[in-house]
Amino acid sequence: MITMEKPKKIAPGIFRPYPGGALTDVRRARAAAEDWAGGEGYPSGVVDSVALVITELCTNALRCVAGAAGFAALVYPVELPSGAAGVCVEIWDADPEHMPEQQEPDFAAESGRGLFIVNNLTGGLWGAQLLAYNKGKTVWAAIPCT
Ligand SMILES: Nc1ncnc2c1ncn2[C@@H]1O[C@H](COP(=O)(O)OP(=O)(O)OP(=O)(O)O)[C@@H](O)[C@H]1O
Ligand SMILES: [Mg+2]
Repeated sequence: MITMEKPKKIAPGIFRPYPGGALTDVRRARAAAEDWAGGEGYPSGVVDSVALVITELCTNALRCVAGAAGFAALVYPVELPSGAAGVCVEIWDADPEHMPEQQEPDFAAESGRGLFIVNNLTGGLWGAQLLAYNKGKTVWAAIPCT
């Protein structure tokens, strides 16, 4: 598992809970993130990366967590370790037992690519954090704005 430190939040951004655990919630989370990032004036390449990353992380949260506990999505501006600006996508799910594990890229396989894509779009700046009191975990990924 990746144990990167989450970059520093520099403004509130958005928080959206999707308690139902429906596949359509992935689309809603993606649309909310795109609206927010577009409204903030980020370049279209950054908006596209935010959309792709949130889609992958929300799909994982839905697929990997047993039951319909749903997920929650945060999207907010950060300062990257380099000092550059970035956008962090952070997805909460209820499962503290299993953590995201990036697979070896196998482009003949039907799945196992999501985190590989996230890793590339973030330059490796992503990770997962367990929450205290068995409250699940968050998986975050920081997209550079340059
Ligand atoms: N939120 C999560 N909770 C628990 N396990 C996770 C979570 N996200 C990812 N994983 C684990 O990491 C693995 C790799 O995730 P990744 O997104 O790269 O591939 P995938 O979801 O299996 O396939 P694809 O994204 O290509 O449809 C998953 O198969 C799963 O075992
Ligand atoms: Mg996936």
